[in-house]
Amino acid sequence: MKGIIFNIAENYIIEKHGYETLKEIVTACSLETKEPFVGPNTYPDADLLEIVGKAVEILKTDLGSFLKSFGHYSFRQLSDRHPNFVEGYTHPKDFLLTVEGVIHMEVRKLYDESKLPTFQYQDLGENEMIVTYFSERKLYPFVDGLIDGVVDYFGYKAEKKSTIYEKDGVELCDFHIKFSA
Ligand code: HEM
Repeated sequence: MKGIIFNIAENYIIEKHGYETLKEIVTACSLETKEPFVGPNTYPDADLLEIVGKAVEILKTDLGSFLKSFGHYSFRQLSDRHPNFVEGYTHPKDFLLTVEGVIHMEVRKLYDESKLPTFQYQDLGENEMIVTYFSERKLYPFVDGLIDGVVDYFGYKAEKKSTIYEKDGVELCDFHIKFSA
């Protein structure tokens, strides 16, 4: 996973729980990476999972809640770092439709060796869509939180239902979203 995601995780823990808590979490980990995480570099997924796992333990929360809240926080950080991707959109659906074909496509050019998820979309009308997520990382609550972050960013509300299922031997997750202003 790219350093930018590690940096956002560090900021998330510092902002919500303080720098001392981040230090406590990192000290309790036996990370493969010994140096500070740098945005465009790639680090083992296992290191991120270990930080998240220790955070969940130390903060006495559960993995799903942590990843969802971290996802929500991440969208604001990603859009602050890459404001050009959000400019020009007013509706969260129109924006979400650009993640696969525009944003992550550009991310592949900006960040070498990116390992990005795959999204497919069903546009079900002005205020309704299904976003289908595939990644071997299976970060379902993280995506759930990112979508909440997008909805908040554009000042909308949404009802969401997620369904995990298997198709052609591959595990997918559908997020059925109904937006309201
Ligand atoms: C300004 C907007 C965005 C930027 C700049 C951005 C960029 C990135 C970057 C750099 C990574 C790390 C890739 C790697 O480690 O190789 C990533 C991962 C990811 N992004 Fe985005 N992203 C954006 C918006 C979104 C949105 C809105 C969603 C979901 C609705 C999303 C879903 C994900 C997921 C789930 C991952 C983790 C990888 C995985 O699941 O395998 N991203 N993104």
